[in-house]
Amino acid sequence: MRADGYTGVTDAQHTLRRRDVLRAAAMVAAGVAFAPPADAAARISALIAAMTLEEKAGQLSCFNDEIRPVGAVFNPVVAARGAAAMLDDIRAGRVGMLFNGYGVAGARRAQEAALESRLRIPLVFAADVIHGCRTIFPIPLAEAAAFDPALSERAARAVARETAAGGIHWTFAPMVDVARDQRWGRVAEGAGEDVLLGSRLAAARVRGFQGGDLCRADAVLATPKHFVGYGAVRGGMEYAAVDMSDAELRETHLPPFAAAFAAGAGATIASFTDFNGIPVTANRHLLTDVLRGELAFAGVCVSDYDADRELIAHGVAADEPDAARHAILAGIDMSMQSGLYVRHLPALVRAGRVPVEAVDQAVRRVLALKEALGLFDDPFRSLDAGVETRATATPAIKALAREVATRSIVLLRNDGELLPLPRAGRRIALIGPFGADTANLNGPWSFAGDPRAGVDLATGLRAAMADAGALTVEAGCAVDADLPGGVERAVAAAHRADVVLLAIGEGGDMSGEGNSRVSITVPAAQQRLAEAVAATGKPVVVLLRHGRALALEGAVRDAPALLATWFLGEQTGHAVADVLFGRVEPTGRLPVSFPFATGQQPWSYDRRATGRPAPADAPMAPGRSHWRDAPDAALYPFGSGLGYTRFRLTDLNVPARIAIGAAVPVAVRVTNVGARRGTTLVRADIHDRVASRTQPVRRMKAFRHVTLDPGASSIVTLPIMARDLTIITARGDRAVEPGMFDVIVALGDQAPLVASFEAVARGSAGTG
Ligand code: NOJ
Repeated sequence: MRADGYTGVTDAQHTLRRRDVLRAAAMVAAGVAFAPPADAAARISALIAAMTLEEKAGQLSCFNDEIRPVGAVFNPVVAARGAAAMLDDIRAGRVGMLFNGYGVAGARRAQEAALESRLRIPLVFAADVIHGCRTIFPIPLAEAAAFDPALSERAARAVARETAAGGIHWTFAPMVDVARDQRWGRVAEGAGEDVLLGSRLAAARVRGFQGGDLCRADAVLATPKHFVGYGAVRGGMEYAAVDMSDAELRETHLPPFAAAFAAGAGATIASFTDFNGIPVTANRHLLTDVLRGELAFAGVCVSDYDADRELIAHGVAADEPDAARHAILAGIDMSMQSGLYVRHLPALVRAGRVPVEAVDQAVRRVLALKEALGLFDDPFRSLDAGVETRATATPAIKALAREVATRSIVLLRNDGELLPLPRAGRRIALIGPFGADTANLNGPWSFAGDPRAGVDLATGLRAAMADAGALTVEAGCAVDADLPGGVERAVAAAHRADVVLLAIGEGGDMSGEGNSRVSITVPAAQQRLAEAVAATGKPVVVLLRHGRALALEGAVRDAPALLATWFLGEQTGHAVADVLFGRVEPTGRLPVSFPFATGQQPWSYDRRATGRPAPADAPMAPGRSHWRDAPDAALYPFGSGLGYTRFRLTDLNVPARIAIGAAVPVAVRVTNVGARRGTTLVRADIHDRVASRTQPVRRMKAFRHVTLDPGASSIVTLPIMARDLTIITARGDRAVEPGMFDVIVALGDQAPLVASFEAVARGSAGTG
């Protein structure tokens, strides 16, 4: 048994990497990472000295807010007790944080109760503000399609202002789990399959939420979650086990957390899942050695909802006290909803089964977080009814929600330049269950969203059309069922129209937590509708609604025009109209690959090289890597997306040799060869040709937008940083291995330009 009482399995533990520890320490020293205010330490120590064990356990416990509840939030009801009992618990010092309540008046009542407790320790209020608080933005996966960290930062800042105005100090976002299996419903909450994009957006969203100074009344503490590996659940099944190599953990799943912590995030939530046989909630290696040691995280680690008690169901804890003991010793500072810490920590300490130092350390972190938010100085910060009225659902935040929504849309196909549509002179049939529907605009986690604010497709289109009477709307079917006569009415409407807009896809409750799917296709009733409408011969524009990449089939896959429109939030109708009629150029690119078939999952564009790769020009060559009925490729891979103009890449310039430790200057000429002004995304991937471990066939290392007038061209530079060439070597350390690298520069999914360079030891680079 270890000195600190931990008896969990330790054989999977890894030694800390000195370089990572030093890097993390440097981050803290540079004042970038979250760190409690310097002058708070003495105040916190004095408070801890005055606290009973029961009060300490109270600070380490958080509960669903029953004092100011809001609508639908995805969490099973566990240990509900009503507002009055909750206020009593707060007065007794048994609650440290409340979550998922909304509104200033209720928060003030709860805070007043906290200030009646013996030590007057203020509450902190948290919530799942995943893509907007009152004003609902596109789901994070959609926002990721903008490939624009500055936009994500702006959106998070605006959302934080509205969140704080509603009496919330802390959001359980961003979710930074890398997701390569589209069966997993929570793909919707993150930035998709790519490590670089995920890391950049994680940092941007943390900066936006926290606003540079957590004491600001409009700052909201960020929670990159779920630490770590949740996106790799086996079979894409929600809450299932995760098994992964150390290299996969470090190269794919840790980087977005490292980026978010480096940007100052002050909290994280541990993943629900089993990780290599030890549930994360009980996994001291992950929560202490990696999180605290390697990543130098100084904030608060919260268990997920009831996850400490779930250690019993996992089969690693015998009973509630055992589960609480596992969690605190692993590194869970705060217990969410189960009440295990309040019920059992004091007795565990008195029995010598948990060292009081472990409890004190967690309490210190929670109090430091409250200090960092300025709650001791002003327990009523962000609880101003005037601000709540003035800063909620403002015209500015609605305009930004619309801008983000238009930037999230991805044009995947546009045969014969069917789009953009003219605003006048066409009869349009809007067909499908999402045409005149506000129930499925937001997708998962719309928390306190205003249901009356949603703009459906029909409303948005009519507002943009010169003659609103030229639009007819037919549902055709329900999300998952036929409607009597629905297909017939839809076919008749299609016959009367010049163009059909087919609004089909997933319902709002088909992705998100608890919504894994074995078949990631368009629901059968809608597919039947699509086939019938396509058979009319009218040109069809598919407006796909979805919280993940889908495996498209038949008439949906083959429609001449296809827009990925995700769940775009309350401004859906306006944003889709903006792009359809060309007021805004489509600039989104896929953050997740659309496969040919569900059975390809998990799949990502940066999969590792096989020994028998299929040639690009013969993807189904016998004896080569593919499925019997699908190539080892995606229908629309990561990065796919078109605009209304066309661009060409030429003149790729990369030095022949670079010294290890130096950046690689990549330059390429981009020309707008179409007839409209437009914006494109240029990206540079690398492939490390020979390494001590197998490497991805390609992995994105730089990306940049460029906007050009017709005929104009520009040299775009895409510097690849020295650290971007590092890999986890066969020895398990992080290094650049000398040798040849390919640089693959591309626009969307078009045929790329490829150049190569050699990385050589310093001093032998010579001239490139
Ligand atoms: C469970 C989810 O996994 C987590 O993401 C969320 O923040 C908590 N519930 C709180 O609602």
